[in-house]
Amino acid sequence: MSQCLIKNIGLLVTNNPSLGKTELGLIENAALLIEHGKITWVGASESAPTAEKTMDAAGKAVIPGFVDSHNHLIFAKDRAEEFSARMKGESYSAGGIATTVAATRQASDDDLLSNATRLVHEGLHSGTTTVEIKSGYGLTVKDELRSLQIAKQLTEETTFLGAHVVPSEYKGKADEYVELICEQMISKVKPYAKWIDVFCDKGAFTTEQARKILLAGKSAGLRPRLHANQLEQGDGITLGIEVGAASVDHISHFNNGDIELLKKSKTIATFLPGAEFSTRSSYPDARRMLDAGVSVALASDCNPGSSYTTNMPFIIALAVRDMHFTPEQALWSATKGGGLALQRDDVGHLSPGAKADFVILKESSYIHLAYRPGVNLIDEVWQHGKRI
Ligand code: NIG
Ligand code: FE
Repeated sequence: MSQCLIKNIGLLVTNNPSLGKTELGLIENAALLIEHGKITWVGASESAPTAEKTMDAAGKAVIPGFVDSHNHLIFAKDRAEEFSARMKGESYSAGGIATTVAATRQASDDDLLSNATRLVHEGLHSGTTTVEIKSGYGLTVKDELRSLQIAKQLTEETTFLGAHVVPSEYKGKADEYVELICEQMISKVKPYAKWIDVFCDKGAFTTEQARKILLAGKSAGLRPRLHANQLEQGDGITLGIEVGAASVDHISHFNNGDIELLKKSKTIATFLPGAEFSTRSSYPDARRMLDAGVSVALASDCNPGSSYTTNMPFIIALAVRDMHFTPEQALWSATKGGGLALQRDDVGHLSPGAKADFVILKESSYIHLAYRPGVNLIDEVWQHGKRI
């Protein structure tokens, strides 16, 4: 079936202010037309065109599919014991990543693919229709390459994160590992990666090392993004803007200078409240960024250490309850904001021409995503114009 009209939508969030009310482009009693996997028309239900097939949304809310722009899904085994120890008072450090690196190196390609597939499906069933996946638990030429080959089977938004931490065999020789990344890994992984990322933080890579890696990646045609200021205030945001990163992520620490720089740049500020939740850390003062007019995204940061969730409604609930986003800002950041963080203009909104990736909620308003935390509010997920 190539044409399908969804009518009787109680509230449609288009994220296109020219199509409806407010920044969310809200249309009440709406309809949308899908043709060949794309949205071709949106508007009031009573003026909808006829179509080969019609579906009734029964007055429920329809939102764009979530764009989860930051995830680490290529890994083996979990770290439940580490989480448990944290909940008993231990603190999170970048060192835990080594445990997953050891398990990942030992795993077969099939095991890595099936674990990542499981997580992508888990996210899809909670409304995530676009997902970014990073490497970063291989940290050898061979293991980073296979991580990205596996990631590429699941999404076009693949990120090379060879600079996640310095692996144990390079202990005390971080600059040699940076050399390996720049001289060998980048050229090998580049057919399978769209992005290059660095964990620029305490216990990971310095600003100088991160700059070198991001610029080497950029010269090879990879687009930069960055893990910045998760564990302490550093120069990560400044570096991200300097190299033209699409997004600076985590940003659990930032100062007024960072806000001013972000305001003037195209770089998106991506918050990952699942990491603060699961590491029992203080939430950043996102309100200051939002009030300053910085473009913000929300993502789940699904990984076995700091945030083992694929659930974007949960992330929205945290952002609203604990980071003082309004429900509208949180929904926008988890959809359109995520699309901007991936430099995509075809996802995160429901305007004619966009991919027909959307979610029918069980309720008549998106507010319920934060108002009813932990409850499955996803009625139907549509991806590329097909109900999954
Ligand atoms: O984004 N911050 C760095 N990397 C991941 C955590 C990885 C891990 O603990 O395994 C993150 O939170
Ligand atoms: Fe991360």
